[in-house]
This record gives sequence, structure tokens and C-alpha cells, in this order.
Amino acid sequence: MADTVKYLLDETRIPKSWYNIVADLPSQPAPALHPATRQPLGPADLEPLFPMELILQEVATEREIEIPEPVREIYRAWRPSPLVRARRLEAALGTPAKLYYKYEGVSAAGSHKLNTAIAQAFYNKQAGVKRLTTETGAGQWGSSLAYAGGMFGLEVKVFMVRASYNQKPYRRAMMETWGATCIPSPSPLTEAGRAILAHDPDCRGSLGMAISEAVELAVQDKDTKYALGSVLNHVLLHQTVIGQEALLQLEMAGDYPDILIGCTGGGSNFAGLVFPFLGEQLRGGRKVRAIGCEPAACPTLTRGRFAYDFGDTGHLTPLVKMHTLGSTFVPPGFHAGGLRYHGMAPLVSLVQELGLMESRAFTQTGCFDAGVQFARTEGIVPAPEATHAIRCAIDEALRCREEGVSRTILFNLSGHGHFDMQAYMDYFAGKLEDRDYDDAALQSALAELPEVTAA
Ligand SMILES: Cc1ncc(COP(=O)(O)O)c(C=O)c1O
Repeated sequence: MADTVKYLLDETRIPKSWYNIVADLPSQPAPALHPATRQPLGPADLEPLFPMELILQEVATEREIEIPEPVREIYRAWRPSPLVRARRLEAALGTPAKLYYKYEGVSAAGSHKLNTAIAQAFYNKQAGVKRLTTETGAGQWGSSLAYAGGMFGLEVKVFMVRASYNQKPYRRAMMETWGATCIPSPSPLTEAGRAILAHDPDCRGSLGMAISEAVELAVQDKDTKYALGSVLNHVLLHQTVIGQEALLQLEMAGDYPDILIGCTGGGSNFAGLVFPFLGEQLRGGRKVRAIGCEPAACPTLTRGRFAYDFGDTGHLTPLVKMHTLGSTFVPPGFHAGGLRYHGMAPLVSLVQELGLMESRAFTQTGCFDAGVQFARTEGIVPAPEATHAIRCAIDEALRCREEGVSRTILFNLSGHGHFDMQAYMDYFAGKLEDRDYDDAALQSALAELPEVTAA
């Protein structure tokens, strides 16, 4: 059909396995290191935090990992997600480019985060775990784990970055509706939280701080484990259902992307869309340009250093080699809470080091301009995180117009912004500030990067 808008797959086409890019990369990721000994971690070191199946996925080298049937069964509620041709946006831009987006906001929690939350809850339940702790920035991940935990009868405790907790009371209500507990971080419940509050009682929190709190509670109790919504290899793995479906949907459209775009907080929605396409390329298929989009105020991929660092502020997590702004770097408060993380997934970082992707930083008003233009043409109000991908896609489409060439552009619309309307109100009221990162704070955070001689 010449003017199809939505490309939909039948439930039977939900992928049967996740795709592991490690099998196709020309070099292997550096090992994670123990925070105390700074020696490579063995699976047993991670057992206080994660169930063994997830630890094995973290170090897996096989190309395909089967998706358990109970996980596929739950995926059926919203997967396969639609691939949409943004025809009205194309017309508004007057571009010869073909713009497609994969829409992950159709999940119950409103974003891609549910793809991994369901998988993580499943493996924890299978291992006999009773409780999960986690952090959340935007609230998308916390909501997803709350829902997934409820599905498998697990108690879920979410430490929500205080700034977001205050900004988004309905995200908290959503987590509670699904049976989870939501605590503003830093909190007096943990040693890590108490130490931060003693120093700064009004602290607005950060993802790094909330991770310290969640990890601290998990390691104290054998029935409690920790779940992370991004960054780790197994999380990125679970997200590859997105790109695998998109490959099939583009085949239906008789198209193939020249450019792939995703926003990058910890890297999971970007990797989920892009890795299956990069896999095709690495195995001799068509070459694609992949672009990771981040906030100028938290420029992990564009300004960060590729080095070993902690994943949290309290230095309880293993050290991983990634693009980092330093674990003590607290980015300024901006509205895309899910992109305010000091590090980047080791696999996305490695993919950039290998020259397989580019990255670009955007200021928030430009992103909201793009988000509003998208809402007014395509109808969906995007999550502030996802507006970074939209900004980049629009810029690329306008470049096509200038150059008079048609390229096929696919971006990940990772979530909707229905709980982010305060951010839109601030934008309309002209209250959004385009604050750059503080270079002095960044340099001092980078100066504190841990010294690592091993590996
Ligand atoms: C809608 C949405 N997109 C993107 C992100 C960023 O995370 P990641 O880079 O892991 O996809 C978040 C994080 O909370 C999110 O809520």
C-alpha cells in the first residue's frame, strides 16, 4: 500500500530470542571489576545483587538468547509495538526524507522500560527472590518494575530521585497502584542516603544516589535483589525486541534505514533499536548511521571519558568501563529526568569507541520545540527524553531537504509524556533554561575517577 501509516505485526511475530551484539563485535567488552579489589568480577560476586540467569546473560557471548515463554506471554499485551511512518511530520517539514518511528509508549507503563522489567521480574521469581529494590529518575522505570513485580508476586521498593518525586506525583501514584512502595531519594532509610542528607538536607537527588540506596538494601537481605533499568548488558539485551521487530516491519514497508536515532540516558532504548541493525551490518549487511542523542547538560557520550567508573555515587557497585562524567557529577535539574545519569552503557560506549555510532548533544528548549511540533503533527505527546531523538530526526530530515536527497530515517519514540505535562507547561511559560553542564564540576568529578591498573 502506497500510503500506509502503521506497520503492525501479529503477536506470533514477537521475537523468540533476544539479540546479543557481543557475538558480532570485533572486540570484546572490558570485564567489570570488583569495587574493592579492582580485579575482574566472577559470577559469584554479583549474586547478592542479581539472580544467576541474569548474571549469565551479563557475560553471555552467544548471539541469540531464548526469551522464556512466560515473558513472551506477557509481552503479548502490547508487543509487537507499532512502526509508524510519520507522514504528517514529513509533510510539515517539506522533506523528501522518509521518517519512521517505533512507538514504545504503547506499553502499560508508557515506555520501553517494561521490556526488561518483565524479563528481570521473571528471572528473579524463578530464583525464589521475594523483593526487588531499584531506582528511578523519570519514573518510567520505577513504574515498569512496579507493574512487572506485581505480575510475578514480588514486592518492589523504588527509590525515586527527589526532584522527580516532587515534580511527578502521579508517577508515584501509578507505582503504588501496581503495589510498589516509592521513596524519595536521598532518604533516611539507608546509610548512603543518611550520609548525603547530613551533608545537604535539601539534596534534590540523582540516579547515582538512588542506585546506592537500592543496592545497599539489596545486599543486606538474601531474599531481596536489585534491578537496574538501563546500562547493564542484560538490560540492553532485553530491549533488542524493539530493533528485531523494526527489521520485520521495515521489510513490510519495503524499506531499510539509512539513519537510526535514539535518545541515550543509560543507553537501553538506543541499543534496543540499533543493535539488531548493527548486527546485520557487522555480519556483512547494509551499513547504517546510528546517532545517540543526549542532553547538552549531561553530555556523557560527547564529553565524557571512556574509563572505568562506579555506577553509583556511594561506590557500592562494580566498576565498569564506560563513557562517564564521573560518579560524583550531578547534572543540573532539567526535565528529561531519565537522561540525567553520569555514565553510559559499557556496550554503547564500546560501540562508539569502535566507530559504529555517532553521538550528538541537544539543549532542552530545542528538544521541546521538536516535541511540540511532533505532537501537533503526529498526535503523540512524547516523553521529554524521547524529544531528543525527535530533535535529531527533524534536523536530519531538514538536512535532506537542504541537500535535496531522500534518506530513510528511523527513530525510537521510547515513551509518551503524559506524566510530564508540568515540563510542557514550563516550556509554554518560557521557564525552561538551557543550562550547560558546569565544566569546573565536570573536571573535578573526572579527577576523582578511580585508578585501575588491572584489565
Ligand atoms: C521514555 C524514556 N526514554 C529514554 C530513557 C533513557 O533511558 P535509556 O537510555 O536506558 O533508554 C528513559 C529513562 O528513564 C525514559 O523514561
